[in-house]
Amino acid sequence: MADKTLNVICICGSLRRGSYNRMVMNALPGLAPANLKLTEAPPFADFPLYNADLQDKGIPPAVLTLAEAVRAADGVIFNSPEYNFSMPGGLKNAIDWVSRVPNQPFAGKPVALQSAANGTLGGGRMQYDLRRSMIFLDAMTLNKPEIFIGNCSQKIDAKTGQITDQQTVGFIKQQLEAFAKFIERFGGKY
Ligand SMILES: Cc1cc2nc3c(=O)[nH]c(=O)nc-3n(C[C@H](O)[C@H](O)[C@H](O)COP(=O)(O)O)c2cc1C
Repeated sequence: MADKTLNVICICGSLRRGSYNRMVMNALPGLAPANLKLTEAPPFADFPLYNADLQDKGIPPAVLTLAEAVRAADGVIFNSPEYNFSMPGGLKNAIDWVSRVPNQPFAGKPVALQSAANGTLGGGRMQYDLRRSMIFLDAMTLNKPEIFIGNCSQKIDAKTGQITDQQTVGFIKQQLEAFAKFIERFGGKY
């Protein structure tokens, strides 16, 4: 019997057009096992800064759209750079908003983390902060393999968007295989 298709959404933490993390995100469908269907999550670029007073007036429609996409997905992959040793403010703001939607959608959700950064640690410090936020939200974050793409401008061709470093390609394939198994094992069991 064919494996059930697992629908996974990818949230890119970088908003800039030439983002390396976006290039990695865009490469994922070509590296994923056949049963993993990857699509980009609805955007968060226009979310207002989180403010409980705004929330009291009604959660913005764009927040509800992302929240419902998270809820409907079998899993979520974050592709994010590291800003000042942590996650980008826009991404944190998006998570803060989504976390205020009733029956918050990250609870029990399988999550995987990937980061590309120009530093040698490849966004490791960002991942531990993101992982910590996911703990508070009761998400189920994959432990290993981890994807830290350090010195990313030397491993990704900015012109073509291709990941040129084959070791990185191999690590990503291994993580996506592990994530598919993780979702099959734990997804929907929360
Ligand atoms: C505000 C800001 C803070 C940054 N802080 C870090 C950092 O803490 N660690 C790091 O490795 N790179 C840092 N960088 C460099 C990023 O790794 C680099 O700009 C990367 O290309 C951003 O990802 P993107 O290409 O997906 O936008 C920072 C960049 C910016 C703009």
